[in-house]
Amino acid sequence: MKITRRHFLKMGAMAGAGLALPLGALSVPVGRLAASAAVRSPSVEPFAVPLPIPPVARPVDARGDARGDARRGARRGADHYEMVQKAAMQEILPGLKTEVWGYDGVFPGPTIEARRDRPVVVRQWNELPVPVSVHLHGGKTPPESDGYPTDLIVPKGHGHGAQAHAAHAAHGEPGEHAHMFKDYSYPNAHRAATLWYHDHRMDFTGPQVYRGLAGVYVLRDEVEDGLPLPGGEREVPLVITDRTFREDGSFYYPSLDPTLQEEPGVLAHAANGMYGDTVLVNGAPWPQLEVSNTMHRLRILNASNARSYELALDPPPPGGKSFVQVGSDGGLLEAPVPHSSIVAAPAERFDVVVDFSRYPVGTEVTLKNLRGEGRTSDVMRFVVARRDKEESSVPERLAPDLDFPDPDDVEVTRKFQFIAGVGGGVSAINMKVFDPGRIDARPRLGSTEIWEISADPSHPFHMHLVHFKVLSRDDGPPGPYDAGWKDTVSLEGGTVRVAVRFEGWRGKYVFHCHNLEHEDMMMMANFEVV
Ligand code: C2O
Ligand code: CU
Ligand code: CU
Repeated sequence: MKITRRHFLKMGAMAGAGLALPLGALSVPVGRLAASAAVRSPSVEPFAVPLPIPPVARPVDARGDARGDARRGARRGADHYEMVQKAAMQEILPGLKTEVWGYDGVFPGPTIEARRDRPVVVRQWNELPVPVSVHLHGGKTPPESDGYPTDLIVPKGHGHGAQAHAAHAAHGEPGEHAHMFKDYSYPNAHRAATLWYHDHRMDFTGPQVYRGLAGVYVLRDEVEDGLPLPGGEREVPLVITDRTFREDGSFYYPSLDPTLQEEPGVLAHAANGMYGDTVLVNGAPWPQLEVSNTMHRLRILNASNARSYELALDPPPPGGKSFVQVGSDGGLLEAPVPHSSIVAAPAERFDVVVDFSRYPVGTEVTLKNLRGEGRTSDVMRFVVARRDKEESSVPERLAPDLDFPDPDDVEVTRKFQFIAGVGGGVSAINMKVFDPGRIDARPRLGSTEIWEISADPSHPFHMHLVHFKVLSRDDGPPGPYDAGWKDTVSLEGGTVRVAVRFEGWRGKYVFHCHNLEHEDMMMMANFEVV
C-alpha cells in the first residue's frame, strides 16, 4: 500500500507527541492527550473474585453426523465448531457491566481443545458492526485459513461492496470475497502446544482484541499424554490482559474513531502501546484461585496489547525456584527450566508447573508483576486452601528431540529492523510500513533461514506459519525465556538471531510486532513461502 497523504499526516499528528519521549516508556503525555490518558478505572478490591475458567467449546455434530457433515461440506474426521462473534454485556468489574466483543459473546473466548492430526474446522460468524479476521496464533495453518489482515468477514449490511469499509480501500482488496461467515480449517499437524486465536483485522487488531476477541486453543498429543504433568483441574489456563475502564464499566481504548469504521489509529499517549491500569486474568480483575497443596500446571498466555509482565510468586516458595517451565510457544521443552521469575511479552506463552506443596496450607501466594507499578504490580492470588494427594511430577526429560533447525542447513540470512515512530509516527520494519502487496522475503518451502531481528527499543517479534529457535541475543547466548520452539520473541532493544525452517504451505503470511498498537501502525510485513 502507498500510505495516503491523509493517513500519513494523521499518523504524524497522532504520534508526534509520543515521539519526543523515550520509545517504549510510558511517560507523561502532553496537551490534549493528558485528559484521555488520565482515564482511571474504578477501583476494585484485588483478590476478591474467583478466577473464571473460559468455557470449553463444544464441537457441532462432532464425529460425523453424515447429514450435518454434508450440509457443511465438512471434512470427515474433523471436529467442527461454530462461533458467533458478537457484542454482549459481561460483568468484569464487580457490580458493573462491560460491553465485550467476544467469540460467542464471551471474553476470553471459548477454549478449543484439539488433538494432533485431527483437523478442526471453525465456522466463524460475524455479528459485530465491523469486519473481522481470525488468526490462530502459533498454528501452522494454510494461508487461506490464517486470518490474513485483509481477508475479512464483513458484517451484515456491509454487503457486497463493503461501502462502509471504504476507508480501508487504501489498503486494497476490501469486500470482494467478503462473507458474513468463513470456515477456518486447522490441520493440527504439529506438536502439542498452547495456541490462541484472536482478531487480526487490518489496522484495527488492537481495539478489537482489546474488546475481547481472543481465546485459548489447546493442542494435545500422545507425547504430552504420556507425561505425569498435572492435569484436570490442576491444569489452568491463565490469559493475562490489562484494560482500562470508564466509570460506567465500559472499556476505555483511545481510538481516533471509536466506531472502528473509518480511521485507524490511537491518540498519541497510546502510540507506543495501550497500557491498561487493571490486570485481568481470564477476564476477571486480580482474581483468586483456591488450590490444593499440590503441583499445578499453569498455561500462561500474555494476551495484552502491549504490556510485558515479569511474573513472580510472593512469597517465593522455600527451597527452589517458583516456576518450572515445561513448555514454550511451540510446545513442550526437552527438559524443564526453573525460573524465579518469568518475563512474558505480548503473545508469548509459558507453560509452567508450580508446586504448592512447598507452602503451608493456608498460605496466600500472590502472582506479582515485577515490571508493574501500583495496581499493575499485582496479577492474581493463589490460596493454598487444602491438602490433597500428589499425583503428578515433572520428569527430567519432557519431549523427545525437538528437531531444531541445523545451522549448517541455512541457505539465507535476512535482517530486519523494527523501529517505532519512523517518519512521524508510523512504525516500520526496515524503514517500510506494511503493504499487503509487497513481499519482503521469499523463503523456499523446506528451506532453513536465519533471521536477524534488531529492535529499537523493544518489540515482540512474531511470525505466522512457522516456529523458530532463538540462536543468540546480541551475539551472546539465548536469554532465559528463549527455550524451546518459539513463535514470538521479545526483542529487548537488541538483536536476536533465530533459525527458521519454512514448512507446511506455500503462500503469503505476515510477520509483525505483536505490540498491537505498533502492528496497527503498520509494523508488519509479508513473507511468501515459494
Ligand atoms: Cu498473534 Cu499475527 O498474530
Ligand atoms: Cu500469529
Ligand atoms: Cu513494536
